[in-house]
Amino acid sequence: MALLLVLNPLPFHSPVAPPAQIPGWATDTTPVRQPKMKPEYQVALFKFECNACHGIIPPPANTQVRTVTQHREVVLKHGINTWCLNCHHPQNRNVLVNDRGEEIPWDQPQRLCAKCHGPVYRDWLHGAHGRTNGYWDTSRGEQSRRKCIECHDPHQPPFPPMRPAPGPETLRMGPQGPGEHGEVHNPLRLTGYGEGVAAGYLEPEEGN
Ligand code: HEC
Ligand code: HEC
Ligand code: HEC
Ligand code: HEC
Repeated sequence: MALLLVLNPLPFHSPVAPPAQIPGWATDTTPVRQPKMKPEYQVALFKFECNACHGIIPPPANTQVRTVTQHREVVLKHGINTWCLNCHHPQNRNVLVNDRGEEIPWDQPQRLCAKCHGPVYRDWLHGAHGRTNGYWDTSRGEQSRRKCIECHDPHQPPFPPMRPAPGPETLRMGPQGPGEHGEVHNPLRLTGYGEGVAAGYLEPEEGN
């Protein structure tokens, strides 16, 4: 008996797949961007309020899209939204601008996005777009909504392609890849005339 136990003729094979390794980046909740949230511009070592310069530079006289000589680092890739002053206030550069030309405070950028992305903005208000950090139950701790520009660069908002995190662990079902059941025939589906005839659903054509 003891010998049998040592030889172990029926080794135990666990049906549970080994755990998938979830890399740290997949669960990291740090926002992908950390915007300053104040109208401040750095030139070399000096920080200026936008209006330090724009208070004396007159706004452009027309709505023509033009290449500006200043702010060359700003490259706009926002679809057909190609005009700086669709978003920045023409007279007061310390704020953003809504559809009526009224000011939107710099730290409320979601109200700017809302004027063109209404449905996504509504989803965001309801918590269906973007992310909520902190506590679900607000009686236990603080909850915070990430703002649009903490994820999207307003000048180039679409995300670059992302690497997906590993799939979920399925208990006892083995690896979940595509094509696992490719060979299983669905008896309720007639895929061709020949199969229909073989199954007795269709009359064989004359001469066949
Ligand atoms: C050091 C001075 C300076 C500061 C600070 C500065 N700007 Fe400018 N900005 C300029 C100049 C000069 C131009 C115009 C360049 C031209 O006409 O070619 C300009 C142009 C612009 C334009 C293009 C407007 C158009 O006519 O299409 C926008 C938008 C703008 N600035 C936004 C900002 C914002 C927002 C800030 C603050 C975050 C800021 N600027 C801070 C000097 C400055
Ligand atoms: C879709 C709206 C939108 C358009 C169009 C747009 N901006 Fe901006 N811009 C923003 C928002 C929102 C911020 C603040 C976000 C941040 O700091 O990341 C910003 C920030 C800036 C800043 C400050 C960036 C810094 O370094 O801190 C400058 C300068 C600027 N924009 C210039 C421009 C110029 C020039 C154009 C046109 C070529 C332009 N923007 C077009 C929305 C826009
Ligand atoms: C003046 C109108 C306008 C404003 C303001 C605006 N957008 Fe856009 N946005 C557009 C247009 C137009 C497109 C291009 C749609 C296309 O080409 O399919 C676009 C495209 C996008 C896309 C890519 C959509 C896709 O399907 O790839 C994202 C993301 C986006 N915007 C986010 C933002 C965010 C965040 C803000 C606020 C900082 C903002 N937008 C402000 C007009 C706007
Ligand atoms: C927590 C990060 C996050 C926040 C906050 C966020 N988004 Fe997005 N957004 C995404 C991601 C991720 C996608 C999908 C990107 C893709 O499919 O390439 C996306 C897609 C989009 C798209 C294109 C797809 C669509 O459904 O039309 C738009 C437009 C957009 N966001 C606008 C906004 C606006 C406006 C806000 C703020 C009200 C916002 N986003 C807030 C992460 C965010």
